[in-house]
Amino acid sequence: DEELAAAGERVFRKCKACHQVGEGAKNRTGPELNGVVGRDIAAVDGFKYSRTLEEMEGAWTNEELHGFLADPRGYAKGTKMAFAGLKKTEDIDAVVEYLRSFD
Ligand code: HEM
Repeated sequence: DEELAAAGERVFRKCKACHQVGEGAKNRTGPELNGVVGRDIAAVDGFKYSRTLEEMEGAWTNEELHGFLADPRGYAKGTKMAFAGLKKTEDIDAVVEYLRSFD
């Protein structure tokens, strides 16, 4: 859904201080997020994750992303993602749709 992805691009402004997506995206404070939707947790080469994320099982499904992005430090205790989280479920839906548009 393009409208949702466009809304997600606006939400992603909050993430840009630490994350890049798109061509040439690099790891910064956070890992680059190309292809993150559906990918194994903590799988970007060359990024030093917290033990917490390293030890989490599974992949970034829609459900896992909702849990994590709503309350990063509550959902993944010990994460080094210093971000308060997104209060609105629709903002999470939107940013996930936006991220889905980057392989
Ligand atoms: C990790 C998304 C905001 C710093 C992650 C991961 C996702 C994500 C999906 C896991 C990546 C993986 O497993 O490869 C987002 C989104 C944001 C956001 C959508 C905005 C809504 C931020 C901000 C910061 C940040 C603002 C910096 C202040 C990090 C760091 C990690 C991370 C350091 C690695 C965490 C760890 O190893 O514990 N982020 N992020 N993120 N993010 Fe964010």
